[in-house]
Amino acid sequence: MSSTLLRTTPALRGALRASGAVKPAAGLATSFVRGKATLPDLSYDYGALEPYISSKIMELHHSKHHQTYVTGLNSALESIAKAEEAKDFAKAATFAPLLNFHGGGHLNHTLFWENLAPASREGGGEPDGALKSAISSDFGSFDSFRKQMNTSLAGIQGSGWAWLVKDKTSGTLGIVTRANQDPVSGNFEPLLGIDAWEHAYYLQYENRKAEYFDAIWNVVNWKTVAQRFGKA
Ligand SMILES: [Fe+2]
Repeated sequence: MSSTLLRTTPALRGALRASGAVKPAAGLATSFVRGKATLPDLSYDYGALEPYISSKIMELHHSKHHQTYVTGLNSALESIAKAEEAKDFAKAATFAPLLNFHGGGHLNHTLFWENLAPASREGGGEPDGALKSAISSDFGSFDSFRKQMNTSLAGIQGSGWAWLVKDKTSGTLGIVTRANQDPVSGNFEPLLGIDAWEHAYYLQYENRKAEYFDAIWNVVNWKTVAQRFGKA
């Protein structure tokens, strides 16, 4: 490991690597610091999640907001690398908050896009198989899980996320919230994230964010959630 600073943020580093959100630059050793994050393509058009999420929101959210996290992450990584080359580790450490914010933002949104699908394709409905059984076992029922998730989303003060997670040790499912762009890490594997930042809904739902939290279930891609559940 080439980075002193990054040793202090192993959870974020691991999460970014595991998700493929940061890829090593071509021709270089697999160094996280030298990695370059790029904006991932969506597997659906910006308008494909309508009427639940508008085309305009999707376009801005992906091409502007997510891009800002990608740019910020690469900038933070570059600044850290430069400071470390100069052996100025105190300066390198000052970039930790930026690394957490932009790295978390990039990771969270990368997972989020994969969590969504058009209602006319895989989006919406309910999970089946082992995931359905686990949700029923750990939350009582799918309906109860969805209500608990919406309650958690509504309880977020300011900007943040709610996640369905799997505890890697016990295998049980749970719901956690994270402020700002703090990523899910450590013993929790993120399966399904819902973005509760205003930029995710305000253009369409204005102050009626509960309507957004209700609507988004129509475009949740349970196939992706099940795949993450199976791997965790
Ligand atoms: Fe967002």
